Amino acid sequence: MIALGADHGGYALKEEIKKHLEERGIAYQDFGTYSPESVDYAHIAYKACRAVTAGECDKAILCCGTGIGISMAANKVKGIRAACCSDYFSAKYTRLHNDANALCLGGRVVGVGLALELVDVFLDTEFEGGRHQRRVDQITAIEEDTFEI
Ligand code: RB5
Repeated sequence: MIALGADHGGYALKEEIKKHLEERGIAYQDFGTYSPESVDYAHIAYKACRAVTAGECDKAILCCGTGIGISMAANKVKGIRAACCSDYFSAKYTRLHNDANALCLGGRVVGVGLALELVDVFLDTEFEGGRHQRRVDQITAIEEDTFEI
């Protein structure tokens, strides 16, 4: 189950992503927004990300105008590793190396065609583990303020 969320800047892209996930047979839960009316992105990021950290959804895909604001909000949710991506390499390697569990996209930055490629590689790439697990654990330690310097 994929958690989807967007503000007005990412609304149109989220709707395209929904169609794409339906074509791929991937289930999603849409946490809004549900129209192009102006809305703040933080509470949408929070609701979608809490569904991930609660185990109700596997990953989140979040869209705003740049992808940046919603990624900043997402990364404040404990247990979320959100990556704002606008290129294929980053969307792939944030799964391979960072075990990112949220992909953030800018509806005013990337076109639909590229965005759907980013969604696919993000969803289809597994975390490599190994030395990268240690680094992800260090990120978690920072989050929990238990990092040994
Ligand atoms: C909304 O105008 C815009 O600021 C928002 O979608 C996002 O780009 C913020 O980072």
